[in-house]
Amino acid sequence: MTEAIYKAADDRYESGMRYSRCGRSGILLPQISLGFWHNFGETSPLSRSKDIMRFAFDHGITSFDLANNYGPGYGTAEETFGQLMRKSFRPYRDEMFIATKAGYDMWPGPYGNWGSRKYLMASIDQSLRRMELDYVDIFYSHRYDPSTPLEETLQALVDIVRRGKALYVGISRWPVEAERFAFDYLRSHDTPCLLFQDRYNLLDRRVASDGVLDSASEAGCGFIAFSPLAQGILTDRYLNGIPEGSRASEGKFLKAEQLTSELIDRIRTLDAIARSRSQSLAEMALSWVLSDKRVTSVIVGCSSTAQLADSIKAVDKTSFTPAELSLIDKALEGIV
Ligand SMILES: NC(=O)c1ccc[n+]([C@@H]2O[C@H](COP(=O)([O-])OP(=O)(O)OC[C@H]3O[C@@H](n4cnc5c(N)ncnc54)[C@H](OP(=O)(O)O)[C@@H]3O)[C@@H](O)[C@H]2O)c1
Repeated sequence: MTEAIYKAADDRYESGMRYSRCGRSGILLPQISLGFWHNFGETSPLSRSKDIMRFAFDHGITSFDLANNYGPGYGTAEETFGQLMRKSFRPYRDEMFIATKAGYDMWPGPYGNWGSRKYLMASIDQSLRRMELDYVDIFYSHRYDPSTPLEETLQALVDIVRRGKALYVGISRWPVEAERFAFDYLRSHDTPCLLFQDRYNLLDRRVASDGVLDSASEAGCGFIAFSPLAQGILTDRYLNGIPEGSRASEGKFLKAEQLTSELIDRIRTLDAIARSRSQSLAEMALSWVLSDKRVTSVIVGCSSTAQLADSIKAVDKTSFTPAELSLIDKALEGIV
């Protein structure tokens, strides 16, 4: 049986998604972006990946975050994305803001990791092939490399833009001093850094305390938060144990040992606060990150459209009363 051609929802830009300007740039990003780190690799059913991506786009999510090694099966999330692009999204390419990255281990030997020009140049070409794209909207250095001269990594980013393989560049997880150097270098080479990407959530506020967020905002660079739900901890996913198929049940990036009974008690308190705001815990956790005006967008992961449907409602209620904020901070006292 041939599959019906996908037609995006006519009301996708009137369905409630909000868009924020990305630093001092012409780009607006949806406050919720969709991440492909988990659940889009070769072990995930293609039909589910397709449903999630279509649901996202039909609800105004135009920003998709990938990296060369997302899977599991390095490269397979990009391959899934490529198949979905070919089968469903080709007519909508100009409505999409697509990101990929290189910086972590991708292929064996000395040229498939870190920040050399050799690695980044080869990786972007591989990513474009897998994703079946002519260019990505943003290409990131996925991590700071203490051994490669920063100029080498940054010049490779500049040249990737000059060669038309990406429209913008970004950096992810760079320490604050290197971040400032990167902003200056990129600006002086006519390729201002569009986005800084790092972890930011209720349980991990390092970017707010170590100056990363302020530096980005002073430089006119947007900030996009990853793991805004702490990989699912800041949701109802683990309130009654560890469900089969959940990320903690796989024990790779989120380990069962992290879910101590003390932590879960605190999460229960947060859940009650969320309910008093008429939100789910996932919604409240995302709203909290978005309440920081230095944040352009949060990248959520999900393993079902139901989770995404829950999470996107966060954009409706991003303000908090001082009393709510102090209840949240009290619930997490001593651990953040
Ligand atoms: N730059 C970097 O170094 C870096 C690092 C990490 C991530 N990222 C990017 O950020 C994206 C998001 O990271 P993340 O996946 O850790 O994000 P996250 O949004 O903190 O966690 C996602 C997980 O939370 C659970 N979940 C999501 N919505 C839920 C809901 N409404 N109710 C209950 N559970 C829910 C799901 O777990 P289950 O799968 O168990 O259902 C989902 O897979 C990645 O896909 C990637 O694009 C970038």
